[in-house]
Amino acid sequence: MIELAILIGLQASGKSSFYRRHLAVTHALVSKDLLRNNRRPARRQTQLVTENLTAGRSVAVDNTNVTVELRKELIDLGHSLGATVTGYYLAAKLADCLTRNAERTGKNRVPDVGLFAAVKALVRPAYSEGFDRLFFVGIADGGAFDVRPWVEEEASRG
Ligand SMILES: Nc1ncnc2c1ncn2[C@@H]1O[C@H](COP(=O)(O)OP(=O)(O)O)[C@@H](O)[C@H]1O
Ligand SMILES: [Mg+2]
Repeated sequence: MIELAILIGLQASGKSSFYRRHLAVTHALVSKDLLRNNRRPARRQTQLVTENLTAGRSVAVDNTNVTVELRKELIDLGHSLGATVTGYYLAAKLADCLTRNAERTGKNRVPDVGLFAAVKALVRPAYSEGFDRLFFVGIADGGAFDVRPWVEEEASRG
């Protein structure tokens, strides 16, 4: 199975840590964080996803991916290339993300206004967007990730 994994979550919600812990062995990493010096990061991201999937490599897209529009573009691209499209929603409270962001240094730390904008724009994912699989990812005691199948009703309750 060739998979396009779409990570979804606020800044400092744990996406890159989850990638390293659960996906790095099997999935190439595509992230706009790695395209900061590119003149057209969105176009380059599409190219990288296309190149990897076409070559038979699974890919994880490690951006906040908070809007339906951003996700739709990726879901359509993945499906057009025959990939299984999986969403991983990194559930995290804004307050926890602000705290973890404040503890970071260098270019990993983003201005808080970016987090406020993202939480405002965030729409929780849904199977109706076209995901083949959707998971809810939480942080368990001891720092492990807790990956659970998505339940739409639970999600709508918050
Ligand atoms: N499972 C975890 N348990 C505890 N802290 C974590 C865990 N995963 C990530 N963190 C902390 O949260 C912060 C943000 O994680 P990161 O993976 O960089 O988030 P993102 O890629 O979503 O911005 C990091 O400083 C990291 O130390
Ligand atoms: Mg990250």
